[in-house]
Amino acid sequence: MKNNISNLRSLKEKNNRFCVIAAYDASMTTAINSAEIEVILVGDSLGMLFQGHENTLPVTLDQMIYHTESVCRANRLSKKPALIISDLPFMSYDNEEKALDSAAKLIRAGANMVKLEGGSWLSPIIKKLTILGIPVCGHIGLTPQSVNKLGGFKVQGKNKIQKKELIEDAKELELAGADFIVLECIPAELAKSITSTLSCSTIGIGAGKYTDAQVLVCYDILGFNKNPPRFVKNFLSESIKSVNLNVSDVFSNFKKNVVDGEYPSDKHSY
Ligand code: KIV
Repeated sequence: MKNNISNLRSLKEKNNRFCVIAAYDASMTTAINSAEIEVILVGDSLGMLFQGHENTLPVTLDQMIYHTESVCRANRLSKKPALIISDLPFMSYDNEEKALDSAAKLIRAGANMVKLEGGSWLSPIIKKLTILGIPVCGHIGLTPQSVNKLGGFKVQGKNKIQKKELIEDAKELELAGADFIVLECIPAELAKSITSTLSCSTIGIGAGKYTDAQVLVCYDILGFNKNPPRFVKNFLSESIKSVNLNVSDVFSNFKKNVVDGEYPSDKHSY
């Protein structure tokens, strides 16, 4: 089965999960392709993990284009290319005209879908993008581009008001045309109820095991993070028991854990 939006969305009806790995370069993409991971996210987390910044805010649209092109070049050589989602960076979609221009540049760089962070205020922008044939992935909960407003990288949706707001936001994003919605760092039970309310697919990170897909950053899967957040699992140390281990086996192990429902466990959830 080809990795495209309709096939991935149809997995939800069959209760099958899929995997997303955030990656920023060609070599990592080739290893991820070998593990038959369905989606690669060229995330603006590259600002922290690739560039060494303390948050994602310094990342520019030109840098996102550069990394999207790098990933897409390798992905095209795969027998079964992943669907590529590319992040619209901070302040590249704060009005409709800018959002359309920025998204078009990422699509021309090879992305199949763009991701943007925020709630219902994005509805008119998402509507316009989808009318113009640009698929959209929403992103709610902990939205790293709002780190200053949120006061840090903290779990969201813990009180009644926030919970209600997040459920409403998710519904609005779906109504506006989002095909996928990332749920970042929210309680597992809230992610479960959002996922069951929507017909589009949810992609969880720090959102427990009930989402339709899971996403992790490649460097976190490979154990580079010495001080990881709770939701990160080091799949390298888990895979190291095998004798002829290669990086792609580690990504395959991540996929197997997600499909089997072993990851994320309660230990990795809020
Ligand atoms: O930028 C990123 O990699 C992301 C994921 C962590 C969801 O947005």
